[in-house]
Amino acid sequence: MPIFIDSSKIEEIEKYNKLGILRGVTTNPTIMMKDGLTGGIEGIKKRSIEIAKIVHPYPVSVEVMNNDKEGMIQQAIEFSKWADNINIKIPIHGPNGELDNLEVIHELENKHNVRINVTAMMSAQQCFLAALAGATYVSIFGGRINNMGFNSIKEIKKLRKLIDEFDLETKIIVGSTREVLNVVEWIEAGAHIVTTTPKLVEGMIIHPYTKETVQMFLNDAKNLEKALNQ
Ligand code: E4P
Repeated sequence: MPIFIDSSKIEEIEKYNKLGILRGVTTNPTIMMKDGLTGGIEGIKKRSIEIAKIVHPYPVSVEVMNNDKEGMIQQAIEFSKWADNINIKIPIHGPNGELDNLEVIHELENKHNVRINVTAMMSAQQCFLAALAGATYVSIFGGRINNMGFNSIKEIKKLRKLIDEFDLETKIIVGSTREVLNVVEWIEAGAHIVTTTPKLVEGMIIHPYTKETVQMFLNDAKNLEKALNQ
């Protein structure tokens, strides 16, 4: 299931879902804000349910909007009930390096039967620990790793080796795509899934030389028709 779309816009999700190339959707509060979502938690609920219906049975990630332990657990349980294909994003730790999150992740997966996508990770070692804690998905942010001057491909390779060697069931999602080539290069490096933007999916499909070639076929088809009618 290699390609997810990083969006909360219904038109975009519907458009790419119809092409048959999507296998899931990821969102986060920043994406929802940029996409102009309004209405607070009720608005998020409505939109998440709509998205989950469009791509069902493929998964949709919705992120908690809370940083304290009880708040994260409560939101995760609540959000996961919105649809059976909604899983919950929890950051590996809080903005001050709070360690509660791993405990929350472990508890939600094991005690509350909630599927977790651990997010905002920038290294293989963070993802490895999240996988050990029982996360269904581990999200590593390839573009942000590259932006910091590190090599995302090396981290993905290292991570996939660890996941396979230790027989962990976690699926690696690589997000934070910045260039069209990221999708295939990260899958090749070992990502189970790459989540990318609609713009980059379009960039993967459309090639200027394909345009020119198809135009040549169409022109010659016309010429051929004319020749056959002579
Ligand atoms: C992944 O699930 C994230 O939503 C996303 O890819 C983050 O990317 P950014 O670095 O563009 O914020």
